[in-house]
Parts: sequence; C-alpha cells; structure tokens
Amino acid sequence: MPKRLFSTKPVGELHEADTSNELHRTLDARALVLLGIGAIIGTGIFVLTGTAAANHAGPALIVSFLIAGLGCALAGLCYAEFASMIPVSGSAYSYSYATLGELVAWFIGWNLILEYLFAAATVAVGWSGYVVSLVEQLGFHLPDALTNAPLTKGEGHFEIVRTGALVNLPAVLVVAAITALCYVGIHQSARFNAIVVAIKVTVIVLFIGFGMWVIDGANWQPFIPENTGTFGKFGWSGVVQAAGIIFFAYIGFDAVSTAAQEAKNPQRDMPIGILASLAVCTVLYVAVSAVLTGMVHYSELNTAAPVALALDRHPELSWLAGWIKLGAIAGMTSVMLVMMLGQPRIFYAMSRDGLLPPVFRRVHPTHKTPYVGTLITGTLAALIAGLFPVTILGELVSIGTLLAFTTVCIGVLVLRYTRPDIPRHFKVPAPWFVCITGALVCTGMMVSLPPDTWVRLAGWTVLGFLIYFFYGFRHSELRKTGR
Ligand code: ALA
Repeated sequence: MPKRLFSTKPVGELHEADTSNELHRTLDARALVLLGIGAIIGTGIFVLTGTAAANHAGPALIVSFLIAGLGCALAGLCYAEFASMIPVSGSAYSYSYATLGELVAWFIGWNLILEYLFAAATVAVGWSGYVVSLVEQLGFHLPDALTNAPLTKGEGHFEIVRTGALVNLPAVLVVAAITALCYVGIHQSARFNAIVVAIKVTVIVLFIGFGMWVIDGANWQPFIPENTGTFGKFGWSGVVQAAGIIFFAYIGFDAVSTAAQEAKNPQRDMPIGILASLAVCTVLYVAVSAVLTGMVHYSELNTAAPVALALDRHPELSWLAGWIKLGAIAGMTSVMLVMMLGQPRIFYAMSRDGLLPPVFRRVHPTHKTPYVGTLITGTLAALIAGLFPVTILGELVSIGTLLAFTTVCIGVLVLRYTRPDIPRHFKVPAPWFVCITGALVCTGMMVSLPPDTWVRLAGWTVLGFLIYFFYGFRHSELRKTGR
C-alpha cells in the first residue's frame, strides 16, 4: 500500500494527455504576463497592507514585502522549471504527481484549492469593501447588514462570533458575475483581463508618483516599532508575521502555470509569464508600502481602504482617491477572474486522473470550458465570500499556499536527481541554494502565522485526506492501469 500511495505518473503520459486535450490554445507570452499581473495585484496591496502595517510591522512593512517577495521569487523560479518541463494544466498538482507521487500530489492539489477558491472569495470581500466606500463617497449608504460578513474572529484565538450582519451581498454578486464570464470562455476573459491590468497598474503608478512628494520622513520613525510583548505585534516577530499576512499580495503568479494547456508555446512562455509578472509586482509593492507609510502614520492605516485614506489625509491629493478606488475595484476584479479560471482547471486535472469525480472534467461543447467545475467553484466561492471576513480568509489562503510552495521547492530539487532525463527549457540556477532557501523562507512565514490559522489548515488537511482515501485512492486512473 505505501508504495501505491507514492506511485508517480510518467511525465511522457502527462504530455500525451496534453495533446488530446480539448481546451483552446490562445495565450502567448504577453497574455501570460498579463494573466500573472492580473492575478497578483489585488486585495493584498489595496487592503491587507494597511492592517499589516497598523497591527504588525509599522513602516518596516517594506521589509515584510521584501521577505515575502524573496520567498515568492525563489518558489517562482522552481515553478518556472516545473512549468517548462510539464506543460499541462493543474499547476503544482500535476508537477508533484510526476515527482513526489499520488498522495503528495493530492495533498498539493487540495492546498491549491485552498489557494484559488478561497482567494477568489477573499478578494471578493476586499472588492466589496472598496465598492461600499466608493458608493459612500458618491453620497449613498448601503445597509451594513447586507455589506458585512455575518461571522468574524472573536477575542480568543479560536473564537468565531456573529456580527449581526446577514450577508456580504456585493461579494456574492461579484462572484456570480465572474463565474458567468469564466463559463463563456478564456479568450474573452484574457482580453478583459488585459484592459483591467492596464487600469490597475496606472492607478498604482499614479499613487506612487503623486504620493512620494508628500512623504513626511517622521512617519518612518521608528522604522521597526518596539514589540508590545506579544509575538507578532511589532518588533522583528511583527515584521515576519506581516510577511506571512501580506504574502497573500503575491499569490497568483502560479496561476500562470494552470493555464499551460491554453498557452501557445508553454515551454518558452511559462517561465517568462511567471517571473516577469512577479518582478513587476515586487517593485510596485515595495514602492507602494514605502509611500503609504511615509504619507500617514502607520497607526492610522487599520481600515478597509488604506490607500484612499492616505490620499484623503493630504487635501491636495484627495481628487485621486476616487480614481484609486475605481482602479482597485477593477484590479480586484481581474484577480478574481484569474483565480476562478484557475480553480476549475485544477479540478479538471485531478478529475482526469480519477482523484475527483468525472463531472469535474466535463468540457462545454461550444465554449470549450470546464463548465461544471466553473459552476461548482462559483457557488462555493460565493458562499465563503458571503459569510467570512477578509482577515480569516486571507491568512488561511496564505498558509495553504505557503505549504504548497514549500513542497514545490523540494519537488524541483528531488526531480533533478530522480528524473535528470526530462528536458528542461528553464533551469533553476544554483538549485541547492534556491530550492532549500525557498522552502525555508516559505516555512518561516508559515510558522509566524497565528495558531488559529494553523488549526484551520489542519482541519482542511484532514478533510482532504478523508476524501482521498474514500474516493481518490479507489478511482485513481494510475492505479487502474496497474502501475
Ligand atoms: N495576490 C492577490 C491579491 O492580493 C490574491 O488580491
């Protein structure tokens, strides 16, 4: 039995499966970079930056972004090597099936669901906050009971309490709209994504360009506020915990690899798509956090729309606040789009391997999209977004993704020794250093996250293993063919 749990899928077979796929090949390198940026810049920079600075890191948020960016760059290099040699959909799930065996592949795939499905929901909640704030700026007040999560974190570490609100309705509605777009197909969606990416990058550049002139150096003092006596509340532990929280801001670059089956030239374009989009976002994040914490004192930033608040504090720049909100709303829309395009394709790959029921690999006869998986993703994301707040969801997404990234870093190193024969169109430089450091930085950020997040991760993992042993293990295609 243990041997069967760790049987690997031959890489050649992954390619065979790829050539018989029914999905359209429409994405070139430029579209992949845009897909990456579309997935990356969203709720992390527009919402979580403020809370992380105000509650954990202060101006040293810049350092947190650098730590998280370093972990992503290293994991991104590993992703690029994997993606360039196994160009099929399914992301790290497929890569680990070919390297670390079925059980680990399931484990990774299950954590990717935590990443994509829950990130789509998290971003929908951030989106809702900015929409409410924009509508308010226009003079209308939406009822609190219909724009807030009914559940939130209580005082104690493991406590969940009711807020009195009914449902976060804008979050549910935006998920429904994005689901409809994904149902229709990736071609229209990629074009829509390109426009939205242009808008959000423009508003971020405007924020940096105008904001840098009103920075008050006094706001950067002390750069690392003194620890309050609690782990994660300022001091170096706060800087690292903030890195774990705002790690969410970088999530998405790996979404590029889930679109491998729809890429025209995946071998060459996947590494370009992943690394270029990550580089652009790192530069923007570090600049935004420097300008933001320079414009206002970090203690003021614990709000749903911190970037807009910073502009409001400087009357000569308040004209920009409305535009920033619009850009943020557009930006978060494209993040949801990429996440909700990625999730059904992970379901598709897992179902094709027999680990999930056949319904997940149904492709629409005209639109050529995995439409049943899309509808299931949309329904679940809408439910989660309607019920939970951004803090609980964001931390859970971060920890699940960090776990998947750590495994990817180790996987790429293992594969160098166990499968040196597979051609690699992109190779990680200094693999021992990059893979091990990547795994360590990602694990360090996981360790810094609060205990309740760890408990939720454990619950999610147990649920995943139950499904695997009661369904996937018995229906695995690999096992049926007798390997
Ligand atoms: N990185 C994405 C965001 O910040 C998930 O919204």
